[in-house]
Amino acid sequence: MRRPLVAGNWKLNGSRATGAALVRAIAGGIERSRAVDVMVCPPFVYLAEIAAALQGTGIWLGAQSVSAESGGAFTGEVAAAMLRDVGCSHVIVGHSERRALFGESDEVVAHKFMAVRAAALQPVLCVGETLDERRQGSTEDVVRRQLEAVLQRISIEKLGSAVIAYEPVWAIGTGQTATPEQAQAVHAFIRGLVAARSARMAAELRILYGGSVKGSNARALFAMPDIDGGLVGGASLDAADFLAICSAASGKT
Ligand code: PGA
Repeated sequence: MRRPLVAGNWKLNGSRATGAALVRAIAGGIERSRAVDVMVCPPFVYLAEIAAALQGTGIWLGAQSVSAESGGAFTGEVAAAMLRDVGCSHVIVGHSERRALFGESDEVVAHKFMAVRAAALQPVLCVGETLDERRQGSTEDVVRRQLEAVLQRISIEKLGSAVIAYEPVWAIGTGQTATPEQAQAVHAFIRGLVAARSARMAAELRILYGGSVKGSNARALFAMPDIDGGLVGGASLDAADFLAICSAASGKT
């Protein structure tokens, strides 16, 4: 049985004070006996401080991005080993905003994925189609291409406890959530691609849905057999909404 995971991607938001208040509220509101893993992904500069605040809560810490390089003359970059050093367990790679706004190609994303694995951290690999691509009927082609760019470069066992997040670009930050059926179809497709290489890895793989997840729609999404939790942007900045999503995921098992 896959344990659900709810991850909050804070993106470029907040301050030291609001971040601290948010984790206090989440840690205070989360059920100790919950059947869900919970993670927050603050901006780089707040990671160490949030790591300290999360001590003893069981809430995981993730970074929103990472360098593909392990060290050297790469001004402004942050290496995976540094993220591990400050207490991260996970790193988001290939978020659509990184792909679209910062020119990260499938190849760059694959190198980042490998850099994260090399530092013994877990990648959260994001894939998903744009609205045009969906309208053209190429959702599966796009998701396959994004996933294969990584799978072709690693042995399937290297997937380890990596997480995949299906995030249709048209649903991110738009309030237009994919229907549970639309999301389930793509999640099943993704699991099938992994199953073609290893049935065991596919059965264990957590596939999160992302794109306008809220407390009000989480339960229906998480009720789908191949949706193992959520990668949450906007609603992760509101403790009550985020906790509602966590409790919806907890009800899955
Ligand atoms: P959203 O963002 O929940 O604000 O749509 C999701 C994401 O980008 O991970």
